[in-house]
Amino acid sequence: MKSWNKSSWRNFNIKQQPTYPDMSELKKTEEEISKLPPLVFAGEVRKLKNEFAKVCEGKAFLLQGGDCAESFAEFNADNIRDMFKVMMQMAVVLTFAGGCPVVKVGRLAGQFAKPRSSDFEEKNGKKLPSYRGDIVNGNEFNEKARIPNPSRMIKAYNQASSTMNLVRAFARGGLADLHKVNKWNLGFVKENALGEKYQELANKITQTLEFMEACGITSQNTPMINETILYTSHEALLLNNEEAMTREDSLSGDWVDCSAHMLWIGDRTRGVDDAHVEFLRGVINPVGIKAGPSMSEVDLLALIEKINPQNEMGKINIIVRMGAKKIKEELPKLIRAVKKAGKNVIWSIDPMHGNTIKASNNYKTRAFDEILREVRGFFKVHEEEGTFPGGVHLEMTGQDVTECVGGSREVTEENLSSRYNTHCDPRLNANQALELAFLIAQSLKEARDRMKER
Ligand code: PEP
Ligand code: CO
Repeated sequence: MKSWNKSSWRNFNIKQQPTYPDMSELKKTEEEISKLPPLVFAGEVRKLKNEFAKVCEGKAFLLQGGDCAESFAEFNADNIRDMFKVMMQMAVVLTFAGGCPVVKVGRLAGQFAKPRSSDFEEKNGKKLPSYRGDIVNGNEFNEKARIPNPSRMIKAYNQASSTMNLVRAFARGGLADLHKVNKWNLGFVKENALGEKYQELANKITQTLEFMEACGITSQNTPMINETILYTSHEALLLNNEEAMTREDSLSGDWVDCSAHMLWIGDRTRGVDDAHVEFLRGVINPVGIKAGPSMSEVDLLALIEKINPQNEMGKINIIVRMGAKKIKEELPKLIRAVKKAGKNVIWSIDPMHGNTIKASNNYKTRAFDEILREVRGFFKVHEEEGTFPGGVHLEMTGQDVTECVGGSREVTEENLSSRYNTHCDPRLNANQALELAFLIAQSLKEARDRMKER
């Protein structure tokens, strides 16, 4: 590989970075982080890559979801537990109704750094540096909060580490047990029609488990029944932090970014000759590439070639985010180019970032129907192109927030202010997320059946 090392990104043009006032403080913090224990391990990263390879082949589906931005203020065990539960619910819906194994990847335990459309924010005539995520500066609109502070990286590491610990405990310690499929139904979801629909499916799963048990298939001999894995991911944006978390695997000599299993490159920082691509080409982690409407075939192929020159299966996840209006026009040419070049990739859909609007009361929001429309467009294009719609990428929470409008338990523009808690983009609440899973399960089943026939 052409002279890569974990610091080589520093010789390249870089976008979307904070300006730290004290560089020696930054350096000291980087050194401190580089001595802290890894959050994930090389073997786990390889395991995820193997699971992604199955998604590439149309044999599994990727469910990636979580906060737009994790925050220090909203960090508590209940929020993590509820996110875990709603991911599990969506996964069983997609597995059972969609007839497809599901690989679960959270936007959590490290999703702190945010790219911004503007370097400054102006309010009532006052101009301050933009908020760039809790790992960089504070959300409060005052001068002091907005100064980038390296010690936030340590706090983010500690939060990611406790989140990871809890997620591992939930995954292995009983909460993921399929016998508890009823218990994942969250209080406020349970009370409506969707909750009942989920309950029906849960009852079917319970019956199936009883049948399997009678046949001798139990959690004692089949651990998949009561255990799962929730992998972690975030945007690899703050490269000082990513570099400090990158370690050499002593067995293989491979370089692993041990801050998360999977990393992605944002739509604003994907320049093929820029620093973010340089950094990610050298680590073995699976890499997501966000593809907005400005992505050309030439750019996409250049990125794939640079990050995955060996054409390894399960390495690249193209996260399409065109917006409901553009997807049918913009996606086919990318799929054709990738297919023609014979590149192995996962195609997944982020129906959030291309569908952000301002409500009349100025809240940043997204309409459930537009989100659904982009997902449907994505499935349709893949059907026409004969390729596999491999996954969804969602901004969501286990809480009953009012950030996206629509859904069966209708959130209106007027309600947005009642529980608008996000630190960045509007998220689907648990009800909307589960509803979306039900609505796409049938399309997934059809796509999966088509792949089986081939
Ligand atoms: C995000 O995923 O939160 C994000 C900023 O996405 P994008 O780079 O696609 O705009
Ligand atoms: Co976002």
